[in-house]
Amino acid sequence: MRVLLTGGAGYIGSHTALTLIGRGHEVVVLDDFSNSSPEAIRRVEELAGVSIPVIEADLADREAARAALAGVEFDSVIHFAGLKAVGESVAEPTRYYRVNIDSTLALLDLMAERGVSRIVFSSSATVYGDPAVSPIDEEQPVGVGLTNPYGWSKFMNEQIIRDAQRARPELEAVLLRYFNPVGAHPSGRIGEDPAGIPNNLMPFIAQVAVGKRERLAVFGDTYPTPDGTGVRDYIHVMDLAEGHVAALEGAVEGVTVYNLGSGTGSSVLEVVRAFEEASGRPIPYDIVEARAGDVATVVADPARANAELDWRTTRTLAEACRDSWSWQSQNPGGYAG
Ligand code: NAD
Ligand code: WQD
Repeated sequence: MRVLLTGGAGYIGSHTALTLIGRGHEVVVLDDFSNSSPEAIRRVEELAGVSIPVIEADLADREAARAALAGVEFDSVIHFAGLKAVGESVAEPTRYYRVNIDSTLALLDLMAERGVSRIVFSSSATVYGDPAVSPIDEEQPVGVGLTNPYGWSKFMNEQIIRDAQRARPELEAVLLRYFNPVGAHPSGRIGEDPAGIPNNLMPFIAQVAVGKRERLAVFGDTYPTPDGTGVRDYIHVMDLAEGHVAALEGAVEGVTVYNLGSGTGSSVLEVVRAFEEASGRPIPYDIVEARAGDVATVVADPARANAELDWRTTRTLAEACRDSWSWQSQNPGGYAG
């Protein structure tokens, strides 16, 4: 397939691009580089040994995106493009809704104009809100108790894609609800390169390990979990990338939803210890107040993806820490050097 990757220069997109090429697909990247660097694609090209067409455009600006894509051939799409910082979405809701919703609307219209019918969408476990059960399967309610515009934008995008499919029955849409993506390509050449202070646990820990930040703040230790800290389902980004290939190749008419997670939960302190082990560096931390909007436990039931896509995670948290450390220690300033 020739796959258009919107947001393909980003963390998950760059790893997925490499994995798709490894499977024999061709990729085209559309990105506005609002949260990424062209250097990520240059490194994917170097690792893959092929050149990748890159289109720089804001997908939320439909006229600009249409013009930029004129004459660019693709037969399927993986839609990563969007803004993803939960706290920022609370402070700047209109920007988050504009970018995350307008991008999807523009993309669906462009796909219809071009006769492209296969789309894989980056959704998130955040659509489950504060889930009543653990592990969570895809039949659990979504859109209940969401606490931020980012989460709502994912929920709304899922609905928009469902409605688009009702109107265009030939659409083959896959909604992938990611749990907590971590790690990097084992080469350490590509990885997660957050701008400013990392919002997410593993990149923050990696920056403490490399000496860029002094101490980790652990957000709360009185959750109803074995050690009191929050439990999440961390998924190695290379497993996640393979999940996209499986979803793309296995897409069928209609809308299908898959959880992409490992099925195993780890606490904040378990991640700290695993990273200390992988890096050989101490991770000093303080226990502080719980973060607003956080929940105790979020763990995937990935049985549907295991069965229908013949996909499962094969990499451990220890490997994710090792690869994250390899990336962070080789690139202490991220792609900027
Ligand atoms: P990322 O920020 O690294 O990648 C997103 C990419 O989209 C970036 O390269 C950015 O420059 C680009 N982009 C943003 N707005 C754009 C626009 N208007 N036009 C064109 N390009 C634009 O994030 P990521 O971690 O790779 O996440 C990819 C997708 O997966 C996002 O939709 C995100 O919400 C979703 N997701 C991420 C996580 C996570 O924890 N990383 C979890 C669940 C879902
Ligand atoms: C993990 C655990 C924190 C940072 C978010 C989004 C979700 C998805 C993935 C996009 C929690 C604790 C964190 C820190 C800490 N993204 N923590 N100190 O909140 O599970 O999910 O990213 O879709 O939608 O909400 O991920 O990495 O921020 O936190 O103690 O400095 O680590 O409380 O228990 P989260 P996270």
